[in-house]
Amino acid sequence: MLETTVTNNENISALARKAYDQAKKAKTWEGARSQLREGFDAIRDSSESSDREKALANLGIVCGHKASGSETAANIRYRFMKTIISPPPSFSDAEHQSSYSNSDLTIAHKEKIGNGVCHTYKVTLKSGETAVWKPVKGEPADRKRKYIPPKTGAQREEAASYLAEWIGVWAPKAVYVTTKEKNSLIPWKETQQKGALIQWIEGKTASSLSVKPSDIREYYPQKYEELSLFDNIIGNTDRHDGNWMIGNGDVIPIDHGYAFPEQNLKQSKNYDFADQAFTLSEQSKTKLENLMKHKAEIEQKLIPLIGGAAVSAMWERVNKMIETGAASPWWHT
Ligand SMILES: Nc1ncnc2c1ncn2[C@@H]1O[C@H](COP(=O)(O)OP(=O)(O)OP(=O)(O)O)[C@@H](O)[C@H]1O
Ligand SMILES: [Mg+2]
Repeated sequence: MLETTVTNNENISALARKAYDQAKKAKTWEGARSQLREGFDAIRDSSESSDREKALANLGIVCGHKASGSETAANIRYRFMKTIISPPPSFSDAEHQSSYSNSDLTIAHKEKIGNGVCHTYKVTLKSGETAVWKPVKGEPADRKRKYIPPKTGAQREEAASYLAEWIGVWAPKAVYVTTKEKNSLIPWKETQQKGALIQWIEGKTASSLSVKPSDIREYYPQKYEELSLFDNIIGNTDRHDGNWMIGNGDVIPIDHGYAFPEQNLKQSKNYDFADQAFTLSEQSKTKLENLMKHKAEIEQKLIPLIGGAAVSAMWERVNKMIETGAASPWWHT
């Protein structure tokens, strides 16, 4: 049996590890899962603190994993351990800065990743930095969303990353830039291309881990609200389980090329965190009010990237949330 009272954060981590150790010994997936659940309950009953939330999140995410037929029990358990014991995210302020805009944006190496409709690459820059590169050229020319103009995904990535910082959601930094690359056919020539350069995240997509939005809602409600607020603000129409990741002990949203619709009208796509109504916490309301207070500054940044119509539609969503004290899917249903 696990202890049920803990008084400090070290004990919370100890409880998480203990639960994991016991899960490891279990012979079956169900046995492991029940040990983890027991650990979760023990932590939930323990003292209040923000670290407790984090520990719960780690354990909760683990509990939410489902075994898929092709995986061996050893693999699943290894994954658990990595998730449970990985430290909480501690990204420095420097990582939030637009580090790419000052460095040499020559792509030294690139490999294609993802099998979405866009061309997405993992690249190494001449500076040695690893990043995700989404060239405008690789975006489909036809309209994939009714109210989002094609070939504007890269700008939308930067706009979303900018707003994530305003509301304090951790998302990879994204910038709309021009990179240089050696032309593969004519090596003495350089190609210049516009696109989004996005900070690389070590982690796995929710789809590859079989983590569901309901797992986040149940075990890490604070994060669920944060991501929900974020997607409702940016009007994200593409939050499926390939577009959020688990890494560094946290849940990290990625892929914001199909956000910021120019109109708030029915559009059935993917809304993992914005498909149901919920009452906003005081903290979320404060974040929204803070956006309104800095409206002029925010518009100055966003209008050149995504245009006035998309920005107006965003304010419409923000105002509605402030007026009603709730987030709701009205803007896409
Ligand atoms: N910042 C990142 N750090 C690490 N891996 C990433 C990052 N962004 C994307 N990836 C990986 O690359 C995959 C594809 O990236 P992304 O989802 O941005 O584009 P896409 O799948 O081509 O677009 P879509 O599926 O929406 O058409 C992701 O599923 C993820 O595995
Ligand atoms: Mg994607």
